[in-house]
Amino acid sequence: METLITDSPREAAAILNQGKTVAFPTETVYGLGAAIDSPKALAEVFKAKGRPPDNPLIVHISTPEELPRVASTLSPEAKLLISRFFPGPLTLVLPKSSAVPYAVTAGLDTVGVRCPAHPIAHEFLQCCHSPIAAPSANRSGRPSATSWEAVQNDLEGRISVILRGAPSRIGLESTIVDCSGPHPLMLRAGAVTLEELQAVVPSITPAGKTIKNEAPKSPGLKYPHYAPKAAILTHEQGDAPQEAGPASAWIGLGTPPSGIAIAKTCASLDEYARELFSFFRYCDREAIHAIYCELPPNQGLGRAIRDRLKRAEQS
Ligand code: TXA
Ligand code: MG
Repeated sequence: METLITDSPREAAAILNQGKTVAFPTETVYGLGAAIDSPKALAEVFKAKGRPPDNPLIVHISTPEELPRVASTLSPEAKLLISRFFPGPLTLVLPKSSAVPYAVTAGLDTVGVRCPAHPIAHEFLQCCHSPIAAPSANRSGRPSATSWEAVQNDLEGRISVILRGAPSRIGLESTIVDCSGPHPLMLRAGAVTLEELQAVVPSITPAGKTIKNEAPKSPGLKYPHYAPKAAILTHEQGDAPQEAGPASAWIGLGTPPSGIAIAKTCASLDEYARELFSFFRYCDREAIHAIYCELPPNQGLGRAIRDRLKRAEQS
C-alpha cells in the first residue's frame, strides 16, 4: 500500500472516514488511528504494527463532551481527573459503552480513553466521524515514534496516511489510570505524575503495589517494549561504568563514562523524556551495540522515564 504524507488534518480525516489507517501527532507520541466502527481499519492497525490481538487500544476523542459516546459510567474519581487533566497526557480506563467494539478493547468490558492536548490532533479528531482507536505508531516492541520520520521508518507501506506534525513535546506515552474498579490505580506512569494525580484523588496508587498473582491490569504490560536493537544497560545516578566499549552510547542527566561513542547529557527531566526514544532510534542508525542509561530518581516525571528504561532493558 502507498502511504500518503500530508500536513492537512482535514485530508487525513477524510481518508480515515473511508475506513483507512492514519498516523497522527499528539503531545505524547504519534498514534496510529482507525475509526472504532471500522473493523477492517482496526484489523489493519494490528497488522501494520504486528501487535498481539489481546492488547487493547486507547480510544481518542476531540473533547471531553464526547466521553458519553465511549464510556458507560464515570466514577466520582474519574470526574475529578477529567475536569483537571482532560485534554492532556492522561488515559482513563472506564467501563465501555456499547459503541466500543471488543476488537478495540481486546475483549475487555473497559476502554482506555484519551483526549489529546495538541492542536493538529484536535482538528483531525474533530473531522473524524467516530472516536479513534490508536496505539502508538511504531512496530510492536520498538520505541514509540516521537516524530513523523520515525513513523515513516516503521510503518511506510503498511498504513494509508501519515499526518505530519512537529516532534512530540512530551516524548513518552500518556499516564494510564484505571478508574473502572473500586479503587483507582495508576497502570502506567507518564507526564501527568503520580504526585499530581494524588493531589486531585489521594487514593490513587501505582498498580505494582496490588496483590500478587492477580491477572495483569494492563494487558500490554506483559509484552516487550521500547526496545532498540542495541542492548539497554541502566545504572543509578553516580554508578556509571568506569569506561565503555567503542560501539556504545550513553544518555542521562549527569556525566557520561569515558570512551563512549555517542553521549547525550540532558539538562532536565523534560528533555530526557522528550529525547529518549529518538535517541534510541538514532543509536540504531549509528549501529550502536549497547546504550548505557542513567536512571533518574523515582519521582515526578522521573518515574515514567525509569519505567520505560527498565522495560527496554528487560526486552
Ligand atoms: O500517549 C499514549 O497513550 C499514546 C498516544 C498515541 O495516545 N498511545 C499509546 O498506546 O501509548 P499503546 O497502545 O502503545 O499503549 C496503550 C496501553 C497498552 O499497554 C494497553 O494494554 C493499555 O494501554 N490499555 C488500553 N486499553 C486498556 C484497558 N481497557 N485496560 C487496561 N489497559 C488498557
Ligand atoms: Mg505502544
